[in-house]
Amino acid sequence: MAEDAKKRIEQLRDEIRRHDHLYYVLHRQEITDQQYDKLFAELKKVEEANPQLVTADSPTQRVSGEPREGFEKVRHKVPMLSLDNTYSEDELRAFDERVAKGLGDSGYDYVVELKIDGVAISLRYEKGKLVTAATRGDGEVGDDVTTNAKTIKAIPLVLLGDNVPDVLEVRGEVYMPIKSFAELNRLREEEAFANPRNATAGALKLLDARITAGRNLSFFAYATGQVSEPLASGHWDSLQKLKKLGLPVNPHIKKAKNIDEVIEICLGWSKKRESLDYQIDGMVIKINKFSQQEMLGATGRAPRWSMSYKFPAEQAETKVESIDVQVGKSGTLTPVANLSPVQLAGTVVKRASIHNFDQVKRLDVRAGDTVIIEKAGEIIPQVIEVKKELRPADTKVFKEPKECPVCEGQVEKDKEGVYIRCINPNCKGQLKEQLKYFAGRGQMDIENLGEALIEQLIETGLVKNFADLYKLEFGQLADLQRMGEKSAANVIDAIDKSKRQQLWRLVAGLGIRHVGGQSAQILAERFGSLEAIIAADKKTLEAIDQIGPTMADSIYEYFRDKDNKTVVEKLLACGMKPEPPKKRRSNKLAGKTIVVTGTLENFSRQEIQKAIKDNGGKSSSSVSKKTDFVLAGKESGSKLEKAQSLAVAVIDEQQFLEMIGKA
Ligand code: IVH
Repeated sequence: MAEDAKKRIEQLRDEIRRHDHLYYVLHRQEITDQQYDKLFAELKKVEEANPQLVTADSPTQRVSGEPREGFEKVRHKVPMLSLDNTYSEDELRAFDERVAKGLGDSGYDYVVELKIDGVAISLRYEKGKLVTAATRGDGEVGDDVTTNAKTIKAIPLVLLGDNVPDVLEVRGEVYMPIKSFAELNRLREEEAFANPRNATAGALKLLDARITAGRNLSFFAYATGQVSEPLASGHWDSLQKLKKLGLPVNPHIKKAKNIDEVIEICLGWSKKRESLDYQIDGMVIKINKFSQQEMLGATGRAPRWSMSYKFPAEQAETKVESIDVQVGKSGTLTPVANLSPVQLAGTVVKRASIHNFDQVKRLDVRAGDTVIIEKAGEIIPQVIEVKKELRPADTKVFKEPKECPVCEGQVEKDKEGVYIRCINPNCKGQLKEQLKYFAGRGQMDIENLGEALIEQLIETGLVKNFADLYKLEFGQLADLQRMGEKSAANVIDAIDKSKRQQLWRLVAGLGIRHVGGQSAQILAERFGSLEAIIAADKKTLEAIDQIGPTMADSIYEYFRDKDNKTVVEKLLACGMKPEPPKKRRSNKLAGKTIVVTGTLENFSRQEIQKAIKDNGGKSSSSVSKKTDFVLAGKESGSKLEKAQSLAVAVIDEQQFLEMIGKA
């Protein structure tokens, strides 16, 4: 019996690992999510019945049970070095000259990589199993973050293949995709992270791995540390071996024969970097041959055979016209600088966040100041420096608000004295943000219900909560200023349509703290109706993978709050019929936006669009940075060029067929 169980456990683990690798490393999917969940559930069951057979490398052990007290320290067997930086072509050439001198007459080539803006990590595999994951720390000693790292699906718990070295330390970067970063920040409001790197560091250092698991971190391997036997004689081949062992290696690595080629690649990426869905802050140049790396050696903190090229920071100088205080949907007050419009990284910036009042004080930003702004993670512009020498004589110190700027109600400071919150539950400022969020594109997606109209609806007293939206009548809207009959009819229509919106969108729209689109989808799939989510007890919520105690708590409490309860009941009473999650035929293209161009052999236009939809993808007609890939048939023209200029992946029909499992 135990023998049978052991065999089945091994089979299931192998199967699950194979699908994890396909999905998280090769971005392919052979089975549906449901089939995967079934395998996983079976493994869990057999393991529960045979606890003596549970091992640390089982896929079921990715998420730990209980939060821990702190982090153990790990001494790196091979130190984790840092890199020296260059900021210009000239500095790169100077580096190349030093290399040439150091290596004498022998020829050499380079490998050029993206410098992923995340957190360095060292993964130690013994006999193919992940035993420790540690942060860089001071380069000699780091924190043991094994439990958290195990929740990152791109990190294999077991290496693939038969030729696995006894000891292999893999060095690489843990990062947070920009989309996940933006989503996380939208949820966090006041506690927003300044950039994906900070968000990654924060997630890796969480004491509760269940929260880390929900942060959607990913990983690229870029080097080795201690190895029992070298994987290859050079860096390039070593990376190829890592790939074969199941580790994700960034697809954009390139070989370069000389410094001119290095420079061309670096400058190219400095323009293309916005096309990536993760943040890079530069490039890393490495001498390929290990023997030559050794010849060059290292200074105290950085190797002489490698160099980073940092992209120029995207900064701009402008003037602060005024400083506003904004009220968030949960009452947090945020200072925002209104700026003289200025061009920055491809957009015109008129406003910039100053995070919190502590930051205002630290920077001493005042209306009238000249400031430097920067795009953090190329997403939110921020004020980073005040040019005090340019300050006009008559500026005034910005004073912290003593009351809510919208409702003039009482405000409260948090324990740390950093955040100030309006505590009036009937604050119109909070209501406006809640409604904006509810109607927003990522939530209920109610067309025509924009900010101006929401303001009017609140001012006229027509809407005091989400449920009131569904009581609005045509006449009431048509009577509003600047509102024609046609627009009024459109709004009524859009609101009515939203009653049949997908369930997860309704759940997301409520604005429950910590619950974003992704978690809302998990809840919708698990419970199938809003009523069932409301009724769920804390234990049930906590037991859901990726929910964890903080979120479970927040969901549970939300539906126990008297005011929330009333509104949700009213919402349900007004004919709300959200659509439960559909069983998709396949998830092979889930979340992917695809542009089709040219003539295809196996599909008509309609057929290809159906094939994309049936596999969970979205087809779009124009290529942008958001396009995941372009499917190019015969005689494809400008779209193909656009894809190439934006570094969007291009696939042919055969590859598409392989992706959907029809090849
Ligand atoms: S190699 C001895 N390669 O950049 C070489 N580092 O500024 C050590 N990083 O601590 C690093 N992408 O966190 C290397 N492709 C890449 C990288 C990379 C990002 C980070 C890494 C390192 C930091 C140095």
